[in-house]
Amino acid sequence: MKLLIQLVALTLCLTATVSEARTFEEIKKDGKIIVATEGGFPPFNFYQGPTLTGFEVEVAEALAKKMGVKIEWRALAFDALLAGLRQDRWDMVIASFGITPQRSKAVSFTDPHYCSGGVVVAKDPAIRTAQDLSGKVVAVQTGTTYLESVQKLPGVKEVKNFPKDTDARSALASGRVDAWVTDKFVAKAALESSASAGLKLGDFVFVEKIAPAVKKGNTSLVEAVNKALQEIMADGTYEAISKKYLKEDIRCR
Ligand code: ARG
Repeated sequence: MKLLIQLVALTLCLTATVSEARTFEEIKKDGKIIVATEGGFPPFNFYQGPTLTGFEVEVAEALAKKMGVKIEWRALAFDALLAGLRQDRWDMVIASFGITPQRSKAVSFTDPHYCSGGVVVAKDPAIRTAQDLSGKVVAVQTGTTYLESVQKLPGVKEVKNFPKDTDARSALASGRVDAWVTDKFVAKAALESSASAGLKLGDFVFVEKIAPAVKKGNTSLVEAVNKALQEIMADGTYEAISKKYLKEDIRCR
């Protein structure tokens, strides 16, 4: 009897550890997909009062509609998002993640939903390019490709990490750092929303393809998302959402 109980317990443990991500078929049967984002990266994903909104929130809603499912949203700290895929806490992440070789080892990316890159933002008009960051203190969000790329630049005096990109922006606005490296469209939106801060848009430090991510190897979900993405890119839905938030169509070309 004792042995039997031990065996049952062991089997339960094993099934728990080898539990797989939900396939698209399972998600479809359930009628809802769990999607995680940050909610702190305007105009891509942010809160308008209590409402989660933004370019990629609306893109995800349009994808879900094509896929025939509803979205149950989760909003979490940026650097917790990819880890949650591994633990099957949600089915998909859409939070402006650039496709990198390192991330591709841990998760599976779908086709990109937009192309952009990291730019230099500063108050001093003499700080515009990657070279100009030499000898300067630069603010970036923790866990981002901006952090990675700025760390590689020679001569940067100090890289200051912020869990939230909006705090990196505030550090620049209040003069605690010399520059902020963030997404080009995030920078543009920040410049518009706080013209008084005197921030200036500089050049690209690097460019990247940005895509939703699912659990590593969840091919049925990757295929379903790619198909839906092609559909919304072909029927004008994507273009309308893109122009609403970014004033242009930012698909990769
Ligand atoms: N594109 C950058 C990266 O891949 C930044 C993404 C930041 N996203 C966010 N929701 N704060 O790391």
